[in-house]
Amino acid sequence: MRIGLLGVGTVGQAVARALIERRDVLSRAAGAGLVLQRAAVRDLSRPRPLSREQLTTDPVQVARADDVDLVIELMGGEEPARGLIAAALERGKPVVTANKRVLAWHGPQLEQLAASKGVELRYEAAVGGGIPLIAPLTDDLAANRVLELRAIINGTCNYVLTRMAQGETLETALGKAQEAGYAEADPRDDIDGVDAADKLCVLVRLAFNATCTPGQLHRQGIRGLDPRDLAYGRELGYVLKLLAIARRGPGLGVEARVHPAFLPADHPLARVDGAQNAVHVVGDLCGPVMFSGLGAGGDATASAVLADVVHVARRLALGDPVPPPRDSGPDAPLIPMSEVKTRCYFRLSVDDVPGVFAQVTKVLATHEIGLASVIQREPGKLGSAEVVLFTYAAPESALAAAEAELSKLPSTRAVLARIRVEASK
Ligand SMILES: NC(=O)c1ccc[n+]([C@@H]2O[C@H](COP(=O)([O-])OP(=O)(O)OC[C@H]3O[C@@H](n4cnc5c(N)ncnc54)[C@H](OP(=O)(O)O)[C@@H]3O)[C@@H](O)[C@H]2O)c1
Repeated sequence: MRIGLLGVGTVGQAVARALIERRDVLSRAAGAGLVLQRAAVRDLSRPRPLSREQLTTDPVQVARADDVDLVIELMGGEEPARGLIAAALERGKPVVTANKRVLAWHGPQLEQLAASKGVELRYEAAVGGGIPLIAPLTDDLAANRVLELRAIINGTCNYVLTRMAQGETLETALGKAQEAGYAEADPRDDIDGVDAADKLCVLVRLAFNATCTPGQLHRQGIRGLDPRDLAYGRELGYVLKLLAIARRGPGLGVEARVHPAFLPADHPLARVDGAQNAVHVVGDLCGPVMFSGLGAGGDATASAVLADVVHVARRLALGDPVPPPRDSGPDAPLIPMSEVKTRCYFRLSVDDVPGVFAQVTKVLATHEIGLASVIQREPGKLGSAEVVLFTYAAPESALAAAEAELSKLPSTRAVLARIRVEASK
């Protein structure tokens, strides 16, 4: 099995090293010799675990090469990666990729192309780095109707929120994440929830058969969060996480959303700290199961990439046909966010005058939002008091309308935060 590698960066280097150093183990597992044939990079002058003759700056040459039997795409980004994956599939070459962006936006089309060419497109590394997720959702949980999936799938945000729970501001925590190599120099895709939405899209297709693109999901990142919110949440037994959430609605529909959310401190995801990732799935037969581990890093991600490579090689060595795409029945529609029901946390800065509380509760009652708990702080130097409300579940449309009205009350100085609260399950 001659392998062509597109990209020899963080993950590509780890894959190349393992293919060289663990060749015997991998070849035995695959039932065929695995050979790293050639690779594409941008900069030929950087040191790589391949000889100069094996390298090119033209990835098309690798994707289409006659002496390459399988292509591993580890360049990242949408283009040219998508076009190269398609070119390899067109030529009848199986492809293994870790590219969540391409899969989130173009996964179904590429899978169709792979099926029409009778080859596999595999992507275990695209979500959750080294954590086995795609194969368990595709195969091991196949007998289940997945009811709910909640996931911490962005290590940068989880690292930042873990530090904010200790009192650091978002800016300080993000700076520490960058120093420690957990955040990119440009962390926007992480802290704005873009990365998590890409990954959720891939998971939602597998677990719920809902065809969607990231643009259709409700997405909110961690910008604007204050360590005070995490501290108030802790007082009432909650931990704040950036969650990717998907849940079967009462009808055919599925909710899918990425946003910060308070979780009960005894929920298994609440204990996932630092750069760790975890996905908690509830199946109707298996009940709750959780997959957790290193969601990023060269070696951890290479482990998932190589699992796919071994899988493809073994199938080819045995002469097994590529299984046809799974028929999972009709597509599940996405439920509009305005109809999604959640509990909610509000933090308000209000004037310290009589009757404030009556006004606030009246607004909630108007929108049929029940109040579960309240924290009120003595006024500070400037005469404003801070009020924190935890509500019972209400539709997003009602919560948003209540927020708008609360902000207009004569006694309200500002609605400082509105954060959804996930109930335990
Ligand atoms: N890093 C992680 O922990 C992790 C975890 C899970 C999934 N992933 C996914 O894995 C993929 C690779 O990530 P990475 O962190 O390894 O990225 P990276 O370190 O930026 O490496 C990208 C590699 O692709 C090469 N490349 C980029 N554009 C190219 C082009 N037009 N022509 C030729 N070569 C090109 C680069 O060449 P140069 O080296 O010459 O610049 C580099 O070797 C991405 O899809 C990412 O989302 C990464």
